[in-house]
Amino acid sequence: MTSVLLTGPTRGLGRATALALAAHPSRPDLLLVGRPGAALAEIAGEARALGASVHEIGADLARLSDVRAAAATVRDLVESGKVRPLGALVANAGVMSADTRQASADGHELTFAVNHLAHAQLIGDLLDVFQAPARIVLLGSNTYHANFWRRLLGVPAAQWRDPVEIARPAVGDANPGMKASGVAYSNAKLAVLYYAHELQRHTGPGINVAVFEPGWMPGTSLGRGTPPAAQAIGRGIARLPGVATPERSGPVLASMALDERWAHLRDGAFVVRDQVAEVRPIARDRQRESRLWAATRELLDQA
Ligand SMILES: NC(=O)c1ccc[n+]([C@@H]2O[C@H](COP(=O)([O-])OP(=O)(O)OC[C@H]3O[C@@H](n4cnc5c(N)ncnc54)[C@H](OP(=O)(O)O)[C@@H]3O)[C@@H](O)[C@H]2O)c1
Repeated sequence: MTSVLLTGPTRGLGRATALALAAHPSRPDLLLVGRPGAALAEIAGEARALGASVHEIGADLARLSDVRAAAATVRDLVESGKVRPLGALVANAGVMSADTRQASADGHELTFAVNHLAHAQLIGDLLDVFQAPARIVLLGSNTYHANFWRRLLGVPAAQWRDPVEIARPAVGDANPGMKASGVAYSNAKLAVLYYAHELQRHTGPGINVAVFEPGWMPGTSLGRGTPPAAQAIGRGIARLPGVATPERSGPVLASMALDERWAHLRDGAFVVRDQVAEVRPIARDRQRESRLWAATRELLDQA
């Protein structure tokens, strides 16, 4: 009997995950953290219709004061006994900003801010609220490394730099373009892997950290900043058999938060679609991981 916190429940994978959590036989209480508005109210209503007890927590994850307030709300709900103990946090919300000059309210490059910094703040604020055994599931993406298909599709791999530089928005009169946007996304997702490995070293023994890669789900709103023609192609590919979709991957993500099958996963274990996979050597780097941890602390403390 537990509560599960999910970020980004309003669309795509998060929406499908919220519905799978709501229908889960263990009947967890749901803490849905998303931008306030009609979409958040709507998914909360749909989850309630499936019988779940749901708390909507409005927060723009591109604003750290909102993230801190959301964490404080969760703490109050758990400590007052209004929801059951916090057993899982699914850090699903993500964005791939089409213009790397875009900044969060705190002045950080938007993709890095939402995918990594907001979740690092939320998790850091809640570490002592979890009740063991607990799980933290972060959202990764295989775009952190290049392969034949990604090269063919022009999806750039990560180009790691010091995290303080990665967090700095681009400057200039012109949009640096889709390649820069892709690099920023891949950097943010490589940061998620580094952070997961380091986070596990800082959590108590009863909190397990894992990373989920849902598979390429063309047609979700993640590509909303890409040219309309690319979005139309994505929607077409999404209909092909075997292609990952929120409806297929959402239940797996919900299962990673709750089911015995995944209880052993820790140390940032990487699950691709529904199988544990080894990450590339580039995604394991003790020096980068500890530097990311320290730089994240600096960036959050300054904001
Ligand atoms: N799509 C893929 O192929 C793919 C592959 C690998 C990994 N992933 C990862 O899977 C996760 C979900 O992606 P998706 O494809 O489902 O994307 P999506 O359809 O764009 O959904 C993203 C979710 O994140 C929320 N979000 C974005 N910015 C936010 C902000 N500033 N404050 C609060 N919420 C915010 C969105 O809320 P709004 O509705 O308010 O915008 C939405 O609920 C992401 O972490 C993504 O990186 C996706």
